[in-house]
Amino acid sequence: MTTLGLSADELLSTTRSVRKRLDFDRPVDPALIEECLEFAVQAPTGSNSQSWQFLVVTDEDRRQALGDIYRRGWEAYSGMSASAAALAVGAAEDRADQQMRVMGSAAYLAENFHRVPVMLIPCLPGRVEQWPGMGSVSTLAGIIPSTWSFMLAARERGLGTCWTTIHLMFEEEAAEVLAIPYSEVSQVALITVAHTLGTDFRPATRAGGAAAVTRWNAWD
Ligand SMILES: Cc1cc2nc3c(=O)[nH]c(=O)nc-3n(C[C@H](O)[C@H](O)[C@H](O)COP(=O)(O)O)c2cc1C
Repeated sequence: MTTLGLSADELLSTTRSVRKRLDFDRPVDPALIEECLEFAVQAPTGSNSQSWQFLVVTDEDRRQALGDIYRRGWEAYSGMSASAAALAVGAAEDRADQQMRVMGSAAYLAENFHRVPVMLIPCLPGRVEQWPGMGSVSTLAGIIPSTWSFMLAARERGLGTCWTTIHLMFEEEAAEVLAIPYSEVSQVALITVAHTLGTDFRPATRAGGAAAVTRWNAWD
């Protein structure tokens, strides 16, 4: 498979949430997805449980149905106090601009959701809400590194991804569309995957950089 040959540092700093620069009309070779998944299952898991499951959705009718579900969730999300737009209120100008750009980009993805050629749904056995405290954190954290590895491997192969969770507002409905036994399996995210238009992506601006959010030795 052709890879971009990015350095590890370039890969880690330029793997963005790609929404507007997606080639909806270019098919994605299933072998590319399989290759990225091989990297996903190299990730760590608590107790070496390896309890990850991945559902790859390419079927047009199912993607259309997921698009309809996602758009309904988007309508609700747009008005929420945790939305990207709401987080712009009262923020410094640069941060507010960034938040509004995220909102515009996310609205574009919502409009075109059904056109995304591959949707990857990372799943876990059981219902995530059933485990208290450490159990839920460890179980959930068992799928997050693997999914991020998938996204990094995808970027290296010219594919753009975006971690989305909005369809989970209607998770049970999505489970029906995908024949997932809802009471036995939790969906954790929906990763959109498509070839990107161009492969040049830049590091993001993070307010204050890592120093602004890092403490050493004690909280105070
Ligand atoms: C847990 C999680 C949930 C997210 N949910 C969505 C989503 O439902 N829709 C969406 O368009 N982006 C979603 N995102 C992507 C974020 O908006 C994105 O990571 C953020 O704006 C920073 O952009 P960047 O990833 O390009 O740096 C999600 C990201 C994470 C980690």
